[in-house]
Order: sequence, then structure tokens, then C-alpha cells
Amino acid sequence: MAEGVQFSKTASREQVYSEIAPQIEALIAGESDVVANLANVAAVLKEAFGFFWVGFYIAKNGELVLGPFQGPLACTRIAFDKGVCGHAYTTRKTVLVPNVEEFPGHIACSSGSRSEIVVPIISGNKVFGVLDVDSDLLNDFGDPDQTGLEGIVKIIERSIRSHTNSERIE
Ligand code: SME
Repeated sequence: MAEGVQFSKTASREQVYSEIAPQIEALIAGESDVVANLANVAAVLKEAFGFFWVGFYIAKNGELVLGPFQGPLACTRIAFDKGVCGHAYTTRKTVLVPNVEEFPGHIACSSGSRSEIVVPIISGNKVFGVLDVDSDLLNDFGDPDQTGLEGIVKIIERSIRSHTNSERIE
């Protein structure tokens, strides 16, 4: 296994996403356990971008349950119709929130979070869960993050699809 992820420390986010995507693909290729893979993806994103909070919520028994993450303690359970995560879950679309205080129903797991982006992870015809990234800066996410994170989620979706023995989670 790779010792660590390599990326240009001074490059634009767009460039860093393009550098880390193939490394994430290689990192998770040989592992069928989805939680193990999500844990490493959270670690890579934290290392590459220093995000305030980055992690996953997994759809389980009718709600979103906290999965692997990096950052401060977070809420453990989110209803499918609540918060930014629930919105991404129900609409099956990326939700970009420049100012969390202006998003009706935003769930403040940490008072440090100012902006947020959530990308749904689709498996078959179900939403497996969401990738959630929080920043302590206002308006910190834009198109390069949406494109970059959606690309990384595609890699995760392919990995989930290819491992028939992956944990099956509703
Ligand atoms: N803010 C999210 C909750 C999860 S935390 O940010 C880690 C939301 O509104 O769904």
C-alpha cells in the first residue's frame, strides 16, 4: 500500500483534485470493505485540503448514520429529510451551501462550520450515503470542489459496485 498521498502543495484545488483522484482509485482498488475505503478517502481529503471536517454519512435503517470522518466530533444520526445531508440524500444531487446560516434546516454539528458541500453516493437505484465537507470559512466551495468531489464519489461508487461482497447497507 502507498505510504502517503502525493500532491502539489501550492497548486490550485482543481489541480490537487486531479492529482489525488487516481491515487484514491489505486488506494481503494484492492480493498472490498467499504468502511475501510471511506476511512482512507476521508484521510486523503483531509491531508490534501486541510478541510475543517470531511466525512461520510451512511444510509442505514431509515436514517443517515455517521461513518468514517476526519475533524471535530459530529452528530451521529441525521433524518433523511433533515439538514444539508438530508437534502442531498432526498434530491440525489450535490448541495453547495456558501453560508450555512442561510440554509434552512442546516444542522450545526459544530459551531465552527461556515460553508458546506454534500455529494450523494448512489449505489444501484439507492442512495448509499453522502460525502460531507465543511469549511470554517464562508463561501469556501465552488465548481472545482463540486467537480472534484463528484469525481471522487464516482470512484467510490465504482468500488462499491465492483465488490459484491461489500457490506450491504440499506
Ligand atoms: N451540517 C450537516 C450535518 C453534518 S455535519 O456538518 C458534520 C447538515 O446540515 O446536514
